[in-house]
Amino acid sequence: MIYKVHSCSIYGINGYIVNVEIDLSNGLPGFDIVGLPDATIKESKERVRAAIKNSSFQFPTKRITINLAPADIKKEGSVFDLAIAAGILGANMFFPDDNINKTIFLGELSLDGSVKSIKGILPMCIEAKKNGFERVIISRENSKEAALVKGLSVFPVKDLTEMVDFLNDIEIIEPATSDMSNLLLNPIEDFDFKDVKGQHTVKRALEIAAAGSHNILMIGPPGSGKTMLARRVPTILPDMTFEESLEVTKIYSVAGLLKEDENLITRRPFRAPHHTISAASLTGGGRIPRPGEVSLSHHGVLFLDEMPEFPKHVLEVLRQPLEDECVTISRVNGTVTFPAKFMMISSINPCPCGFFGDESGRCNCTASQIKNYMGKISGPLMDRIDLQVEVKALKFHDLDETSKSESSESIRKRINIARQIQLERYNNQGIFSNSQLKPKHMSKYCKIGKTEKNLLKEAFDKFNLSARAYNRILKVARTIADLESCESIKIHHIAEAIQHRTLDKKYYF
Ligand SMILES: Nc1ncnc2c1ncn2[C@@H]1O[C@H](COP(=O)(O)OP(=O)(O)OP(=O)(O)O)[C@@H](O)[C@H]1O
Ligand SMILES: [Mg+2]
Repeated sequence: MIYKVHSCSIYGINGYIVNVEIDLSNGLPGFDIVGLPDATIKESKERVRAAIKNSSFQFPTKRITINLAPADIKKEGSVFDLAIAAGILGANMFFPDDNINKTIFLGELSLDGSVKSIKGILPMCIEAKKNGFERVIISRENSKEAALVKGLSVFPVKDLTEMVDFLNDIEIIEPATSDMSNLLLNPIEDFDFKDVKGQHTVKRALEIAAAGSHNILMIGPPGSGKTMLARRVPTILPDMTFEESLEVTKIYSVAGLLKEDENLITRRPFRAPHHTISAASLTGGGRIPRPGEVSLSHHGVLFLDEMPEFPKHVLEVLRQPLEDECVTISRVNGTVTFPAKFMMISSINPCPCGFFGDESGRCNCTASQIKNYMGKISGPLMDRIDLQVEVKALKFHDLDETSKSESSESIRKRINIARQIQLERYNNQGIFSNSQLKPKHMSKYCKIGKTEKNLLKEAFDKFNLSARAYNRILKVARTIADLESCESIKIHHIAEAIQHRTLDKKYYF
């Protein structure tokens, strides 16, 4: 007799349904799991056996074979424990068959029979719903995350005994709900832009970058406040839409990085990897691929502090996600694509000593030293950066400034309005911000008049701008116009966009 229950697993950031088939036959007692399980799943045999016994159920003295279908995808983790135990108990008629139709079992078991949480619940429940399942049985810790999926009843259970009582209709369990009312408020930050004195141009550039999700590079001497400014960017990032939140939560769920009290991520991620990071941790990897930093920054910020300190080959892997907004990882079993649409903030010193271009003239780096240093960031990578701003060392009177700078909250209000304009303009096109405009969209959304064109031409000739810079300037000008709620791009928007390309004018590119 074959008994069947359902579970789910993860491939990339999406779930897929796994049928757990149980065969009990007479013969020498044994317990086998087939269907491309890895070592972690094989261990599940011991957990399931102990959990069933310690929950005071009789473990069948038969030959047990478990098949995890589809059998061609390598499976790992402890997610199938609960389904295997439910299958064995069901096959032994501890509860009626018809009570497990359209039910998904997800959870790890402890030796004492209690049900523990697992990673990737959200994408698995989304998949369960898509495949017509009506309920999931899950650990209590995972229930809030699962309840985000509407139209699926989530039943949290403490242990195997509670599950069996529930399936026998002896115990009534209330389906879990996810309280969203307080989630959409952004928690208070410790950092605030009002602590940053002076640096008005840089703050303005960061405002534009956040509004249009543009990549930005800050260049300046040590101690000028680059790190300080970048760390405050999360406080001005626009609110996330529900779709964006769900996408980010799926990634964090798969990576196992959701905090216990966090069922839906409603704040844009801010990731600041150290420069010793490997290429694989940046893009994602592993035998069964897991998302890397670029995907963990999806819809948020990837901050690369001291960019030239990153090994060149590590920086180069950023080129593809910056262009395609996703990362594709190939493995023997197939390819996995993780989303990776992030805003890159980077900071650099202008030379090894850090004072090149400083008015004090204290830099004594040679031309070749400077060239070597800056050369670590390749032209194609630099080309993907929309705004480049100089962060000048502060003067004493700036530091002595007593008047408070503008607070993050009031900057964020403007940014939210500008982002809303973009969302409405690109409605239903899969575009969330101006930075995502492709060449085919430019003529429609970034139209400019004759005088604006003349200014662009002048800048081209004067600063030797590359042809590639053209689209970038127009996109930034589009965002500046949106910040003013101005429908057409005017000459002063273009002028400001050109102004925020310091490197084209002053430095080495
Ligand atoms: N505009 C500012 N207003 C107030 N304090 C500032 C400002 N700029 C810098 N500081 C102070 O200087 C400290 C150093 O700044 P920060 O670490 O951001 O410099 P940096 O530009 O990242 O330098 P490095 O290139 O060495 O990394 C800050 O922690 C802060 O206390
Ligand atoms: Mg710094």
